[in-house]
Amino acid sequence: MQRTVDLRSDTVTQPTPAMREAMLKAPLGDDLIDKDPTTRKLEEMIADKWGFEEALFCPSGTMCNQIAIIAHTQPGDEVLCHRLSHIYWYEGGGIAANALCSVRLLEGEHGIIDPTLIHQNINATDDHHARTTLLSLENTVNKAGGTCYTALQIQGLAAEGHRLGLKVHLDGARIYNALIYNNEDPADYHKSADSMSICLSKGLGCPAGSLLLGSSEFIAKARRIRKRLGGGMRQSGILAAAGIYALQNHVKRLDEDHRRAGELASSLADLQWVSEIIPPQTNILIFKTAGDPLAYVKKLDTFGIRIIHMGQGWLRMVTHIDICDEDIDYCKSVFLKI
Ligand SMILES: Cc1ncc(COP(=O)(O)O)c(C=O)c1O
Repeated sequence: MQRTVDLRSDTVTQPTPAMREAMLKAPLGDDLIDKDPTTRKLEEMIADKWGFEEALFCPSGTMCNQIAIIAHTQPGDEVLCHRLSHIYWYEGGGIAANALCSVRLLEGEHGIIDPTLIHQNINATDDHHARTTLLSLENTVNKAGGTCYTALQIQGLAAEGHRLGLKVHLDGARIYNALIYNNEDPADYHKSADSMSICLSKGLGCPAGSLLLGSSEFIAKARRIRKRLGGGMRQSGILAAAGIYALQNHVKRLDEDHRRAGELASSLADLQWVSEIIPPQTNILIFKTAGDPLAYVKKLDTFGIRIIHMGQGWLRMVTHIDICDEDIDYCKSVFLKI
């Protein structure tokens, strides 16, 4: 039987047997009536680690980001973010549709914003301009190829945002990949952003769920917005249990995903059909092909290797917990054949 290697995203993972067992055993309650005990445990655990007063469990990373944007802004405000940001590209126009805000896109190599750009992009405070109120950062930067800021860079950008009177949100969908790459600890991020989102359903291998972190006042506001958006969940502990398990067991192993993405990149390096590669820092490898990128997506698919087209000619492969060394060897052999 032909091998299938699904490199489209780190969201395609299946919960492991041990994770499923943890989910089955979780004590559950109605989270919207009197709090689900396992959800509360996860929220307290993660808020404490990342140095926030509270956390809120949400169905998705998109919902966390959208709640944060709504909570930090007023209709008619402007949001600053990098031009490759997930909140701009892949959240269904939510900045405009949900928060009624405009967006100013910042440049920066590999998705990384230089702090000097923030000052230059703040609107004048008069009746003509949109009020610039929020800076949104992303770590790792998905569309740039999983590139990382260091915690120190995030501290610097947040300090500059605050100095200019902005609120700062950090989309940390893959923040644990950044921690592993930089050999850092959540404490290195303490007191930087005003809010942060963390996804459990990416490299950590959970079936669903993300957390939004912030002050108690911010989370109280966020909880109302979550309800309004239909994101309140009842026996959510069944998902939270997967998160607790993943935080305890799936963080250190992320360096294996990073190593495998590096091996895939090396194997593409000398091939004639590959025209450009962004050397991966974490688990996301993006590259361009000499010919039609979609033709290569189709070709690889005939060998059971599934990858995606990110737009603008970029193809993406993402390593994750369900990819092993044999899968990488198989990919290398196919890359040589096509
Ligand atoms: C950087 C980033 N932020 C947010 C999200 C949204 O997460 P979700 O798919 O859970 O809505 C993603 C999803 O891939 C992402 O890559």
